[in-house]
Amino acid sequence: MALKEQLAQWAAEVAAVQFNTAEEVEAFRIQWLGRKGKMKDAMADFKAAPNEEKRELGKLINEFKQQVEQRVAEGASSQAHSEGDDAAQFDWTRPDGGIPVGAHHPLSVVRREIIGILERMGFVVSEGPEIEDDWHVFSGLNFPEEHPARDMQDTFFVDRNPDMLLRTHTSSVQVREMEKREPPMRIIMPGRVFRNEAISARAHCMFHQIEGLYIDKGVSFADLKQTLLRFAQEFFGADTKIRLRPSYFPFTEPSAEVDVYWGLETEVDKRITKGTGWLEILGCGMVDPAVLEASGIDSREYSGFAFGMGVERITMLKYQIGDLRAFFESDMRFLEQFQGQR
Ligand code: PHE
Repeated sequence: MALKEQLAQWAAEVAAVQFNTAEEVEAFRIQWLGRKGKMKDAMADFKAAPNEEKRELGKLINEFKQQVEQRVAEGASSQAHSEGDDAAQFDWTRPDGGIPVGAHHPLSVVRREIIGILERMGFVVSEGPEIEDDWHVFSGLNFPEEHPARDMQDTFFVDRNPDMLLRTHTSSVQVREMEKREPPMRIIMPGRVFRNEAISARAHCMFHQIEGLYIDKGVSFADLKQTLLRFAQEFFGADTKIRLRPSYFPFTEPSAEVDVYWGLETEVDKRITKGTGWLEILGCGMVDPAVLEASGIDSREYSGFAFGMGVERITMLKYQIGDLRAFFESDMRFLEQFQGQR
C-alpha cells in the first residue's frame, strides 16, 4: 500500500481506539511512538518515496504523529482520573483541601469599618424601622408639602396606608432619637433605604446608608468639617482628597455634599464619575433649627450637625468596583474576592 493510503487507514484506526487502563495507553504509545514502533516504519517509507511526493507526505506524517501524541495525552489524563477514584489507590492519609469558608459581603466589611471609625470618635450606633411614617421620613425633617422627594416617583408608599412608606433615608432615625433623648447626643444610624429609581451601574432601588448626628452646645460647621476629613483619611488613607460643595437638604442649613477623588484615567472612571473624577460619598450640614424644635430640642441652647453616606458608593471607591449591581447579584466569582476580609 502506498504511504498516503497507509496513513489514512492508520489515522482512522488511531481515532477509533479506546483505552480501559493506563497499561493500554502505554502499550498504544509504544506501538506507535516506541523505538520499534510503526512511526519508524512510516519514516522509512517516507525516505524511500520519490522526491516530488515528499512535501505532501511529510505534512501528512507530521499531522498523523500529532494525532497519535494527542491520543496518548488524552488517554493518560483520563486514566489517571478514573484510577484516582479507585479504592485500592486511594490515599487515606492525604490532607484534604480544607473546608471552604464563606466570606463577608463587601458591604458588611465596609459598614463595619465605617462604624468602627465613627465609634472611636465617640458615636454610638442606633437603629430604626425600615417601614416608616411620613413624619419621621419627611415632615419632622422640614420637608415642605410640595417637596419632590415625597413624590410617587421617588418613594415606595404602602398601598393600604398612604401615611406609611419605605424610608428613603436613615435620617428618619435622627428624628426618632431626638424625640427620645436629651442632648448631648452623638449617634450613627446604619440601615437599608429604598427609592423608586431605575437600576443602573450607579443607582439601585435599595441601598445602604450610615447617618451621623451630633447635637450639643456650641457645635459648629468647623466640627462637622473636621469630623468628615478625619473620617475620610482614616478610611481611605492619610493623603485622601475631599471637597465640600454647597448643597441643599430641607433638614440642614447650611448644607454640603462631600466628594472623594476617584480618578479619571479609564473609561470606567469617566462613566461612574460622570467625567469629573470626583465621586459623591455623602451629604451633610448643620441641623436646621426648625428640625430641632420639631423634636422638642431648644435651638437657642443647642446646635448640631448631621451627615449621611451611601455604603455602596464608598465600597465601590475602596475596592474599585465599577458597577453597583454587582453587590446584589450573588455572583460567587465576585463575592469570593472578599475572602479573608474582616
Ligand atoms: N438624608 C440625606 C440623603 O439621603 C443625606 C443627609 C444626611 C444629608 C444628613 C444631610 C445630613 O441624601
